[in-house]
Amino acid sequence: MDELVLHLVKLVVALLLLLHHAALPVAAAAHGHKTAVLESQPALPAGMRFLVSAAASSPASPASGSSPPAAPVSTCLYTVITETGNKLGAGTDAKVSVKFYNKSGDAVTFQDLENGADDNFERGSTDTFEALEGPCVSGICRMWLTHDNTGIFPAWYVQSVKVSQGRAMKTFRVMQWVSRHNSDDFASLLMSECDYFSP
Ligand SMILES: *[C@@H]1O[C@H](CO)[C@@H](O)[C@H](O)[C@H]1NC(C)=O
Repeated sequence: MDELVLHLVKLVVALLLLLHHAALPVAAAAHGHKTAVLESQPALPAGMRFLVSAAASSPASPASGSSPPAAPVSTCLYTVITETGNKLGAGTDAKVSVKFYNKSGDAVTFQDLENGADDNFERGSTDTFEALEGPCVSGICRMWLTHDNTGIFPAWYVQSVKVSQGRAMKTFRVMQWVSRHNSDDFASLLMSECDYFSP
């Protein structure tokens, strides 16, 4: 994305310089100086020609048929394992969802974690959710954990959340209550262990 912006800036600069060059003969003509300069195309310095051609061949330009089409988003299978703490009232009957990001902002969301068990997210229990399908995101380092705050005493004390995909695995040591904030009608907790984050 940054590269695209850079290309656009280069294009605008190049066009402004081009207009500036083109305007000179016109201004001369307006002052009655009808000279050979009108017929001559303003020559672009080599550096500027490069800028214009670089901008024209950027992905932003639909005219360039040479750039390969964007790779389709591939699907991955994930396993999510939640560990509920052993504190009094740690369990919840609320519907739990989780979103994982990597540091470039790519994300995968799993809504209403469900594995067919009678009761998930009970005090002291470990719950495994397998074969969850979603877009492939590598280098997961950030998690947004939410629940819908339904049920009796919906607050949830989470020990850890583990997410794995293929051989990649990330463990978030949460050790916190996921509870409601302010006037939100859901509860949430954001954990970021990315050394930077730029969506
Ligand atoms: C984030 O995930 C996408 C999709 O797998 C990947 O293309 C990108 O390189 C990842 N970013 C980082 C910083 O790992």
